[in-house]
Amino acid sequence: MGARSMPSTLNDADNPRHVPMASGKSVQPQASPVAIGPPRGRAMLQWEGKQAPQQVIAPPAIQLEAHRALAAEREAGEPAWDAPADETTAEDPSNRLFYGDNKAVLAHLLRPPPHGPGLGGQVRLIYIDPPFDSGSDYTRKIRLRTGRRPVVGEQVQYGDRWPGDSYLQFMYERLLLLRELLAEDGSIWVHCDYRQVHRLHLLLEEVFGPENYLNTIAWRSQVARGAKVNAFYFPFSTQYIEIFAKNRAAPTLWQPQKKRLIFTRRQAAARFMEDERGFFRTSDPGTYSFARLKALHAEGRLYAPYGGDIIVDEKQRRVYASNGGNIGVKYYLTDLGDGRYAVERGVDNLWDDIPGLGTTPGEDVGYPTQKTEALLRRIIAASTRPGDLVLDCFVGSGTSVVVAQKMGRRWIAADLNYGAIQTTRQRLQRLGAAPGGRPTPGFTLWQVGEPPPPASEPAGTAVDLEIRRRAGEDGQTASHWVEVRIRDYRTDALAAWLRSHPRPDWRALVDAVEIDMAYDGQIFRSCLVDVPAHRRAQVSGLYRLPAAPHPTVVAVRITDIYGHETLVTRTV
Ligand SMILES: C[S@@+](CC[C@H](N)C(=O)[O-])C[C@H]1O[C@@H](n2cnc3c(N)ncnc32)[C@H](O)[C@@H]1O
Repeated sequence: MGARSMPSTLNDADNPRHVPMASGKSVQPQASPVAIGPPRGRAMLQWEGKQAPQQVIAPPAIQLEAHRALAAEREAGEPAWDAPADETTAEDPSNRLFYGDNKAVLAHLLRPPPHGPGLGGQVRLIYIDPPFDSGSDYTRKIRLRTGRRPVVGEQVQYGDRWPGDSYLQFMYERLLLLRELLAEDGSIWVHCDYRQVHRLHLLLEEVFGPENYLNTIAWRSQVARGAKVNAFYFPFSTQYIEIFAKNRAAPTLWQPQKKRLIFTRRQAAARFMEDERGFFRTSDPGTYSFARLKALHAEGRLYAPYGGDIIVDEKQRRVYASNGGNIGVKYYLTDLGDGRYAVERGVDNLWDDIPGLGTTPGEDVGYPTQKTEALLRRIIAASTRPGDLVLDCFVGSGTSVVVAQKMGRRWIAADLNYGAIQTTRQRLQRLGAAPGGRPTPGFTLWQVGEPPPPASEPAGTAVDLEIRRRAGEDGQTASHWVEVRIRDYRTDALAAWLRSHPRPDWRALVDAVEIDMAYDGQIFRSCLVDVPAHRRAQVSGLYRLPAAPHPTVVAVRITDIYGHETLVTRTV
């Protein structure tokens, strides 16, 4: 603990430089400072090099891609979007995915129009799942898209090693910026584990004020198995989510959550009481009014645990047990009709009913440290309403934004790892129509600052593909169709594996095919996406799309299993 240190300016981008674009072009960025308020807490954690920034330089954002609203579920190879993407999504500051260091991204989000979206005080929920200071490098296995999905390589996605106290300074800067973005009635949820939970709690108190502490969730993320069961001083099976309000007195938006527990007949018989109506649990009547207790009695839901009759005394407006004991209220379990019984309970701060990824393999998209959709569903349901803005600036595989999209929330996300951007993009592209038939909203991809290049240099690739105009079936629309046929795709990255294995079909090497029917050389607007629905499925390789009658540049982007992207353009 110690005194507040000298304020400083954090400037990743003091000297504006040319920001390279996907197309190879560059633009002159215009950086500007964004002011941030001082921390609020009194007790403060001290560390070497601690600096409380008062402003951060906000680099400009450059749009790289636009993905239109997805109308409905589709077969592989069918156009995913109604028509080529237009600029409308670029006007909306939400549903944006940012590739870049989140310090620069957050500063950009705070920057007022016309240079930034000016989202200060607009975000209802901030969920962040930052590195945990685990001292590890996180990798993903690269697998062929074939039956047994053989592993053909491994790739580092992000490092989680922090010299000295750099982790604390890193988190401190981001939390200060995040506080500026949070709505007065919004909340921030910080996911972490035993390594930093206590220090992050102090940081959050310093930044948001101890009076704005809401809760700490202990989430059972795994069940110890094998040798871990006997770990010295118990296995670590929980992760933590620290929750703070921007202003608890606002008050903070809160929607209590229920959980559903399911029991077999034998389990129900062991845990609950049973009468002629079924299994029930009981609870003290607490503060129930006389009228409510009378109504419960009429429904046969009051009982006297220590015997005696239930007396309804109209004169004294009291309901009690004739032998002077307490009364209880019965809550019946729902008979599911298949030998199982369900009970609803209020959710408290011990979340042991949401499994981790280890026991939900169907959700696994192969990104290390991926969280489960059920976890995010509960967080988003508790703290937001439909249409609210959700921010996750450590988005990883995109779990939070996929769930936000499914739940009709708007979102903004960022990641510094291009592999995370690709994974999130593909998960969003895979989403079908939202419940109720509403189309899934589109999204845009932006770059802020100068992220480091993708982890590995693209290995030599060779694509054999044909793009040409085709006659329409009625003969009249001959020039209005374009056919894209991919015949082969090769990458040098597979060379070592091929020395001892037969060459697989090219489709086993491809994760996604996207087509822009009017590529302008700057922003890739997808008119078609072919992203297989599951990890063994493959792309089709043959696509037929409506095209403008005049010459147009068709761009085909192929993303392979290593994350290498190849863009082929033809004027047709
Ligand atoms: C624990 S993972 C998030 C996992 C995610 N919740 C999910 O369900 O997949 C942390 C992520 O933070 C990203 N990250 C680390 N430092 C960052 C930074 N300075 N800016 C943006 N993202 C960063 C990493 O690349 C990684 O994808």
